[in-house]
Amino acid sequence: MDPRTSRGRLPLPQRGIAFGGDYNPEQWPRETWAEDARLMREAGVDLVAVNVFGWAEIEPEPGEYRFEDLDHVMDLLHEHGIAVNLGTGTSTPPPWLTTAHPEVLPVTRDGGTISPGGRQAWCPSSPVLRDHAERLVRAVAERYGDHPALALWHVSNELGCHNALCYCDESAAAFRRWLEKRYGTVDALNAAWGTSFWSQRYGSFEQVLPPRATASPENPTQVLDFRRFSSDALLDWYEAEAAILRATTTTPVTTNFMVTAHIHTQDYWSWAPHMDVVANDHYLDHRLDDPWAELAFAADTTRGLADGAPWMLMEASHGAVNWQPRNLAKQPGELERMVLTHVARGADAVCFFQWRASRAGAERFHSALLPHAGTDSTQWRATLRLGALLDSLDEVVGTTVTSDVALLFDWQAWWAADAPGHPTQDVRYLDEVHAMHAALRRAGAAVDVVAPSADLSGYRLVVVPALYLVTDEAARALDRFVAAGGHALVTYFSGIVDADDHVRTGGYPGAFRDLLGVRSDEFFPLDAGQRVTLDDGRTGDVWTERVEARGASAVARFADGPVAGYPAVTRHEHGAGVAWYVATRLDRAGREELVAGALADAGIDPVLPGAPAEIDAVRRDDGAASYLFVINHGRIAFVASAPGLDLVTGRSAETHEVPAGGVAVVRETTTDRWRSGQEATA
Ligand code: GAL
Repeated sequence: MDPRTSRGRLPLPQRGIAFGGDYNPEQWPRETWAEDARLMREAGVDLVAVNVFGWAEIEPEPGEYRFEDLDHVMDLLHEHGIAVNLGTGTSTPPPWLTTAHPEVLPVTRDGGTISPGGRQAWCPSSPVLRDHAERLVRAVAERYGDHPALALWHVSNELGCHNALCYCDESAAAFRRWLEKRYGTVDALNAAWGTSFWSQRYGSFEQVLPPRATASPENPTQVLDFRRFSSDALLDWYEAEAAILRATTTTPVTTNFMVTAHIHTQDYWSWAPHMDVVANDHYLDHRLDDPWAELAFAADTTRGLADGAPWMLMEASHGAVNWQPRNLAKQPGELERMVLTHVARGADAVCFFQWRASRAGAERFHSALLPHAGTDSTQWRATLRLGALLDSLDEVVGTTVTSDVALLFDWQAWWAADAPGHPTQDVRYLDEVHAMHAALRRAGAAVDVVAPSADLSGYRLVVVPALYLVTDEAARALDRFVAAGGHALVTYFSGIVDADDHVRTGGYPGAFRDLLGVRSDEFFPLDAGQRVTLDDGRTGDVWTERVEARGASAVARFADGPVAGYPAVTRHEHGAGVAWYVATRLDRAGREELVAGALADAGIDPVLPGAPAEIDAVRRDDGAASYLFVINHGRIAFVASAPGLDLVTGRSAETHEVPAGGVAVVRETTTDRWRSGQEATA
């Protein structure tokens, strides 16, 4: 059996989908706590994160721990049957620490020191801070390790949200140690960094610095390695805390990831195997063109990080956030659509920031499960409804998503692709990834987002958007996948450089030339606003290149622009499989047409045939039962032909009308279609 279809459970005590959020009782008088616990029960909340920012409360003076309040909260929650995701509390050091040890504060590229007064003002490589933090973690672990409310350890908080890149002397020393480990000799470092360019050759590791502010463009490999180092430094921090917790208890350990469009400093492919539970924080980002498409992408990526197993949504917002330029409240139905987009894609725990809206502090205008207005409010009623909705979905817990399509996504490629000094500033890695993911979703396909190093053998189609940097091994694996009968769809600016960010010579796209049966000898990026037309009427912008077909056939050619007459879209039969190449950024309709064609070519049916693009349909199953999630982002009702019981309405029927902006989760009566799909992927 395909391991991706096996039933997995989050190691949490809840029988159904866990529901809750961050709970910050330290912001409120004790009288409020009893009311909190009572209301949590009323809403069906059964998991809360406490002590996330607790350091200053529980260690008010150096080495003096004061646990009485937290004891009380833990006991109270337990009495009410609410489990605790317990923060180690290390996410923000208290003022006494930063006053006594200003050397723990992070330093920016241009040498400025970040002040305390916000949060996370600490250098990930600071041994002084590590020492203090480890003492705190030990104290917390000893105090609460056997508390009956404890369900999960929550290390720090969103590691690297604000402090991922620190350029201080301590970081410089740690960077050098990391480089020595990676390269062994300074000659190897010189070769990898290409230091014969611009007189940069190092005589010893002592001469190496982090990429601090420079007068000219920096060495791109130095910057790339600094990002790798910085991600590893925080992972090392996580591991240090986790080791203390694991030595004291057997409770699972995690931290909250930020798979999101605006933070990309952690290489979560390398972090995920260290987590006992993969957990993500996700907020709809209204600065993006399509926040809902990004949400689906983030959820598919989080499932990829969990290796297909169920995962935890650690934070989301009930209504508006407070950190975007304009913080849009949710319209009726949006909360359910948001939550079900995560659950459909494998989330078995749904938690929010935060339980009760703060009165003071930087986030006082952030929404919460319990708003400022109190229980006589639309938001509180929505919280009660959400609790009931999640209860009705308990049986989906442990089921998984099976997909025939993989999309390759990589943080390291993102770092490298978006660096300056490239042919154009208009190729934005994440935009291309999002665009391809959205096109697949709108074509009705279920998509696994996986690392370039993932095992591809279970898929029929692998989509490779703008994978500028790719290792030799990953390129070979894609080649083998296609040669063995798989289909691949690769878009422009892929396979250009190796792991050291050195250009692959002999013609572009170096790593994928043979696979794609094409060769380009020059890039022709387009001017701002410039569009080209293809001979089939589609248009493109941002990118063109002079592609010569070397085995591939041209599906479409450029009809105008700098490379008129040359192939724009190609298809290559390679071994037993097929590899497509797209040499421009197609307009949305053109991209969707291309993706639909590639899916059909690979013999992949939509999850819900006939559904329009505004319908997000995802199936979770475990081989015994299957659940079809239908999320209607459109403005008109949609009738889903899906025989079974809708767990949302409690109605059993052959078809289900999903209102505009509404949702359905159908426990499917076993159909031939579903069965045959199962067999085909078994
Ligand atoms: C997250 C963070 C929470 C809260 C939330 C607001 O980044 O973990 O503590 O700040 O954002 O949206």
